Amino acid sequence: MPAFLLGVDIGTSAVKVALVDASTGAVVATRQSPESAEIPLAAPQPGWAEQDPADWWQHFLLALQGLGEQVQDVQAVGIAYQMHGLVLVDGDDQVVRPSIIWCDGRAVATGAELAKAVGREECLRHALNTPGNFTVAKAAWVRTNEPDTFAKARHMMLPGDDLARRLTGLVTTTPSGLSEMAGWSFASGSTFGELMEAAGTNHLVPEIVPTFGDQGRVTVVASQETGLPAGTPVTYRAGDQPNNALSLGVFESGEAAATAGTSGVVYVVSDTAKPDPAERVNPFLHVNGKIGTLLCVNGTGSFYSWIRRTMCADKSFKDLNSVAESAPVGADDLLALPYGNGAERSLGNRTPGASFQGLDFARHGLPHIARAGMEGIVCALKHGFEAMKELGCGATSVRAGQANMFLSPLFAQMFADATQCEVKLYDTDGAVGAARGAGIGLGLYNEPRDAFAALTELTSYKPGDSAPYDLIYKRWRGVLEDNLR
Ligand code: XUL
Repeated sequence: MPAFLLGVDIGTSAVKVALVDASTGAVVATRQSPESAEIPLAAPQPGWAEQDPADWWQHFLLALQGLGEQVQDVQAVGIAYQMHGLVLVDGDDQVVRPSIIWCDGRAVATGAELAKAVGREECLRHALNTPGNFTVAKAAWVRTNEPDTFAKARHMMLPGDDLARRLTGLVTTTPSGLSEMAGWSFASGSTFGELMEAAGTNHLVPEIVPTFGDQGRVTVVASQETGLPAGTPVTYRAGDQPNNALSLGVFESGEAAATAGTSGVVYVVSDTAKPDPAERVNPFLHVNGKIGTLLCVNGTGSFYSWIRRTMCADKSFKDLNSVAESAPVGADDLLALPYGNGAERSLGNRTPGASFQGLDFARHGLPHIARAGMEGIVCALKHGFEAMKELGCGATSVRAGQANMFLSPLFAQMFADATQCEVKLYDTDGAVGAARGAGIGLGLYNEPRDAFAALTELTSYKPGDSAPYDLIYKRWRGVLEDNLR
């Protein structure tokens, strides 16, 4: 009988699932839901972003349906999820409010107050980050602004913890999960109690389970809903960015992974931790206990996707990529800031918004807008990447899945030229990686690396002449600075 590993990746726009053959590591099937639309996202106030955890579950079920009867032969489940989001549940395991997700900026001021209360140095010494806009700050925001809702809450979780809860009936999180909440003390190797105390969230911290290993079993009720065998263990869980690194076999110091989905990320692994004094980039606990320093640009695919649906909804992303190719380097002097998706950590949690600079109706059309959009995203990533280099976490090569914006050769080459960093693209994604992670958690391999024997490099983009992008970047920096004033 074939045995499969199931991986699930709860993204901001879709939930993806993958079945991997447990004995060969080969990908058997992948599905996503929704297929073309995006999971609803509510912005009740400017700068806010909420999703309903019930929607993640429903799209998980729909994606599983696409896998058919094969789900009955699943041996273990691995979960990846959008990071930093807050899910609060009451004593009856009912969600008490919509999830405040990663790109929601409402908690920035609360995070700054918490940092003051605990002491900035103390936060950096323990969590390598201040609470910023991370999950603990989001929970403290609810405590101050929605006291009745907060009073009902018994547990705070991340989106992936909530999916695990729905599958297993157990409320748990992982050390890596706590670190992305800003609630893990690297100094003591346990929950950052002082911060939880100051935030009033100590009583909400779930039981901690290891990233790999038995995190609970699929209940009879969940089995009826999902078709997964009752008793199937959940054996792996990680945020989507550490999981992306795992998916690409990025484990050792100096190795780097990137994504260019809704957000754009460069993630560099190191043995030792070094907080960024300006907190433009954030060190978190990697899946293997090392440090993953993470640069996040919220406005990446979210910006490009906005351009498509607002200006040419009849075109596919593939079509838009070809349109962008027809504009010259520098898009005839059109520049774009992509920061329209919430508080940007690389800019000190400020929100300059997205904008085009120098739009000339006589010269510019859709090709220029699409190309300037891509160039703006690459400049924003380069801007954060410079901060990584300053910290000694630079990289000369990054691995990425051939997905989202990296499907565009123009974008991939632009990234390589502008950052002078080789881009190697592989045939994997977060759901496939989570399935392989489940295999590691099940103890199928001698070494975590063995789980990635089937990983194939598809293509690579070597850095070319940086001069044109140096020029664009210089002008783009000027526009950014004007907008931050
Ligand atoms: C990473 C981050 C985003 C989300 C997207 O720190 O905030 O990349 O994980 O899902």
